[in-house]
Amino acid sequence: MKKIQISPSILSADFSQLGSEIKKLEEGGADMIHVDVMDGHYVPNLTIGPPVIQSLRKHTSLKFDVHLMISPVHKYIHAYADAGADIITIHPEATDNLQESINKIKVLKKKIGISLNPETKTEVIKNFLDQIDLVLIMSVNPGFGGQKFMPEVLNKVRELKEIRDKKKLNFDIEIDGGINFENSKLAIEAGANILVSGTTVFKSNNGDIKKNIDLLRSI
Ligand code: DX5
Ligand code: ZN
Repeated sequence: MKKIQISPSILSADFSQLGSEIKKLEEGGADMIHVDVMDGHYVPNLTIGPPVIQSLRKHTSLKFDVHLMISPVHKYIHAYADAGADIITIHPEATDNLQESINKIKVLKKKIGISLNPETKTEVIKNFLDQIDLVLIMSVNPGFGGQKFMPEVLNKVRELKEIRDKKKLNFDIEIDGGINFENSKLAIEAGANILVSGTTVFKSNNGDIKKNIDLLRSI
């Protein structure tokens, strides 16, 4: 079984103090930092772009797990790689040519992630699974933190785990949206090995980040 990793989303952090918020995540035992990039076009919300990521880079040595909710994504991949992304995750609907976008991330020597919205079927990425490092299963519709977890997406987690085992592939299965201390266990049991969490990590237990990360990790 793959090690369970926690990727806190800075979407729920205090944006006026992102540097120290990231330090707190590192001290609390986060395995990587999930950065939600939104463009007000692919999703109805706006967040941050490459200059902010670049300025955060010096605050931690943890990997930046950059979730691009932008369309068209292809022409911006380079900018996020340069800014310091380690994992670049894109949505299939946000590119005209998924293969070309995968190739681009690969040429830039970054880990390749593909994200599936709740209504997107696994068929869309079946032919790419041997080329990518991570599948990000959205358990809410992308755009906002603090939404309710959609348990039906766990079927896709199970399905992908089965394919991975059968074909002896190695991609990580990450789950993102509405993760709390109850459904984290269900997600892990279904086969997810990276859990994204914004609200639960930053707001539960009066903001005790270390406790929240430990609780999410324990099954
Ligand atoms: C939603 C984002 C998620 C979200 C996670 O579009 O991709 O990363 O912010 O936040 P919570 O844990 O609050 O659902
Ligand atoms: Zn995300």
